[in-house]
Amino acid sequence: MSKIIYYIGLIVCLAKLRTILDFVWFYFLRPTNRWEKYLQGPSPYAVVTGATDGIGKATAQELYDKGFNLILHGRNENKLKGVIEEIQSAKSKRTGKVQDVKYFLEDASKVGIDFEGIARRFEGLNVTILVNNVGMYTIGLERFDEWTEEVHMEYVRANSLFSTFLTRAFLPSLRATARARPVLVVFIGSFGDETAMPRITLYSAAKHFNRRVALGLHADERFDIPDDKAISFMYVHVGQVNSQMDREPPNFVRASSEHFAEKLVGTFGCGRQIVIPYIGHYVVKLVYTTIPEFLATKMLRDSAHEQVERAIKESKLRS
Ligand SMILES: NC(=O)c1ccc[n+]([C@@H]2O[C@H](COP(=O)([O-])OP(=O)(O)OC[C@H]3O[C@@H](n4cnc5c(N)ncnc54)[C@H](OP(=O)(O)O)[C@@H]3O)[C@@H](O)[C@H]2O)c1
Repeated sequence: MSKIIYYIGLIVCLAKLRTILDFVWFYFLRPTNRWEKYLQGPSPYAVVTGATDGIGKATAQELYDKGFNLILHGRNENKLKGVIEEIQSAKSKRTGKVQDVKYFLEDASKVGIDFEGIARRFEGLNVTILVNNVGMYTIGLERFDEWTEEVHMEYVRANSLFSTFLTRAFLPSLRATARARPVLVVFIGSFGDETAMPRITLYSAAKHFNRRVALGLHADERFDIPDDKAISFMYVHVGQVNSQMDREPPNFVRASSEHFAEKLVGTFGCGRQIVIPYIGHYVVKLVYTTIPEFLATKMLRDSAHEQVERAIKESKLRS
């Protein structure tokens, strides 16, 4: 009996040790310049969706500074042109040149988007990175059945279907590029895909959908293509980030968009399919998964209450 307890204890200790070593490796020792492998070939481009604010805008800036040309997506032409002007007002830190920036406009929540038409517009460009970042989030007093089916569908389209079908449209050209050089498709997710925060049911479900799409496509592409010639897919777990979506000031658990984007790009090419780029988010996740479930549920409910109260206060301030 004591031998069994000894071996169980040993296995538990080894599993914990592995987690600790992995933590130290990922956040302190891992090389963060693996994104360089996506800078191969003639004029490499990165596509970033939802690039007019927050994480998307900061990621576009980060990739530009690292030497990528950009294809940016937004829904508001003036805002997107302003962002492009801002990015191109300085030379790329890596190349010392003004990189090319192209764009396309689309309201991701709407039906009837010509995804293949979008991909066709950029055919022939050496796209090596696609960052599916666009996302829409509202938390309020309304219950699930108090939103119309159409509003629910808008959230599902903007948070998951847009990314899925944009990726699908780009796949043939990305696949052709991947034969010659590494190609990465990123899905920006959320901790909401694992936790059950009240009032954001379909947002959470949509993020979970993206996670399955990313992992599924990674496996699918490797079914009949050797690993080193196949597109890589990555799902990004995101906690709180200061942006339009969360206006509270940055702190250890809430990264600024710029800091998050720097950490995010630092994970490109790391070889993992699921990443938590920012250490503060890892700590939050550790707390949520370590404390008793009833406490985690209470914390999520309290956080939802706070967010709803803040949203009401902000909308009152605006009106
Ligand atoms: N911030 C967080 O705490 C947090 C936490 C977990 C996950 N995330 C995820 O991170 C990603 C980026 O969010 P963020 O925090 O950077 O939010 P953000 O500041 O609100 O930026 C969202 C971007 O998506 C665009 N967008 C939103 N709805 C759109 C639509 N229907 N059609 C076209 N474009 C649309 C916005 O365009 P406009 O400028 O026109 O509004 C903006 O460019 C999202 O996928 C989000 O779910 C964020």
